[in-house]
Amino acid sequence: MSTPLAFAQEIEPEIVEIRRDFHRHPEVAFEEVRTSGKVAAYCEQLGLKVLRGAAKTGVIAELNADRPGPILGLRADMDALPIHEENEIEYRSTLNGKGHMCGHDAHTAMLMGAAKLLGKYKDRIHGRVRFFFQPAEEIPQGGAKKLIEEGHLDGVAEMFGLHVNPLLPTGVLGLKDGATMASMDRFELLVEGVGGHGAMPHQTHDPIVTAAEIVLALQTIVARRMDPLEPGVVTVGKIEAGEAFNVIPPRCKLVGTCRSLSKDVWQKIPEWIETIATGIARAHGLDAKLEYTRGTPVLNNTAPAVEEMGAAFRKLGGRDTRIRATMGGEDFAYYLEQVPGCFGFLGAGDGTPATGYCWHHPKYNIDERALAWGSALFVQLVLDRAGK
Ligand code: NI
Repeated sequence: MSTPLAFAQEIEPEIVEIRRDFHRHPEVAFEEVRTSGKVAAYCEQLGLKVLRGAAKTGVIAELNADRPGPILGLRADMDALPIHEENEIEYRSTLNGKGHMCGHDAHTAMLMGAAKLLGKYKDRIHGRVRFFFQPAEEIPQGGAKKLIEEGHLDGVAEMFGLHVNPLLPTGVLGLKDGATMASMDRFELLVEGVGGHGAMPHQTHDPIVTAAEIVLALQTIVARRMDPLEPGVVTVGKIEAGEAFNVIPPRCKLVGTCRSLSKDVWQKIPEWIETIATGIARAHGLDAKLEYTRGTPVLNNTAPAVEEMGAAFRKLGGRDTRIRATMGGEDFAYYLEQVPGCFGFLGAGDGTPATGYCWHHPKYNIDERALAWGSALFVQLVLDRAGK
């Protein structure tokens, strides 16, 4: 029998066409109505058990081989981003301001391809394969958390997911044990003072000057509070204050994000922000209030699952490589808080400038030959599982 990669390459034109169709019609978080409709219809046609409307706009499909064994979870996220695509390609986004600039179109197409191919191997599968076509990866409190709350992870023994990465060449898989992607929190600091005439600052408590000092001082969290061997990020991404050039406003709002790879740092950061912000504000006669919202946790790959994914990829003739962690966040982390598994980075670069952009860039694109690799890898993981 042919290898999963050979089979995947046979249906490559179909997988590519599916990906391009999603690419032309991007849908952002919790709006994946067209996408999930196509996914559900495709899976139904394959004879899978299909549940529509999971976590609002997601699809859960299941392949039951009618032989006892564990349930293996395979996940693809489906949402696009509110980014205007700048690629000049035939299958460019048809919508202004929306684009698949993170490759989730590829993830969905690859998993659909895997579902089709697994039908050919049904007599070799033990247990069940549960396909998670997840909505809303790109927003906090998004699809993964909701799917888990709805019980779709119940009974799953191990969970696997892939993210296409054009900065790795096609045929290479990037893997890492343990903390692989960062926790991603959001904070808002409201600095409240007393406004007044821009020419009479002594009659005011200027929140802008105070906020500026806070922005700089927050950088000492990473530089001076954290263990220098621990990675961390504190970024202020938005400052809101004032209406006129000659008026000192009464308040200033700072909005930002914190990233970390360890529970220790993750736990301590809010307190550090609060201490610094309120201390500086008080010194200048103002108040600072912190609103801290926890986002996705640290994504922790489990070592045996990483080994399984690497071994499966090598069986296909690919090469796996150890990568460094990224401070980007990913809601696959929620699954891995509950069950063992691995989130891998599938090489999708062909070395040309067209695939030289990282995630969320308006010119982000992938080498579509990676799609067959992704589908085949999912299939190989299922077959290897069956052999245990
Ligand atoms: Ni992504």
